[in-house]
Amino acid sequence: MKIRTLTTIGLIAAGLAGYSGSALADAAAGKATFEANCAECHEAADFKGEDAKELQGSIEQISAGQMKHKKAFKLTAQQAADVAAYMASGG
Ligand code: HEC
Repeated sequence: MKIRTLTTIGLIAAGLAGYSGSALADAAAGKATFEANCAECHEAADFKGEDAKELQGSIEQISAGQMKHKKAFKLTAQQAADVAAYMASGG
């Protein structure tokens, strides 16, 4: 449990430092983005089992202002992928 927490913190710290070595979705980084921008209105559990790629597409459209959404937000493609991975995992 403790090791897992430290790993998560490490990944978030890497994200804050501008780490962009991999294009792979990073659910741990997505969790931080979700909690900062989305958790006020959403619960990740509501998206559990949804297709991460489709979610990512919706999030990118919202971010680009092409899909109606309660609140405007701007995420990079990497952030959209990360948040989608986190949401689809159910948190
Ligand atoms: C101020 C409240 C609010 C915030 C903050 C918010 N949302 Fe939403 N979002 C809504 C509401 C309301 C809906 C429509 C009802 C629903 O599907 O829950 C919605 C719908 C969605 C949908 C579903 C769109 C579809 O295909 O039907 C996605 C995906 C989504 N939000 C992603 C996000 C992400 C990612 C963030 C954070 C970066 C975020 N939202 C932040 C209120 C919010």
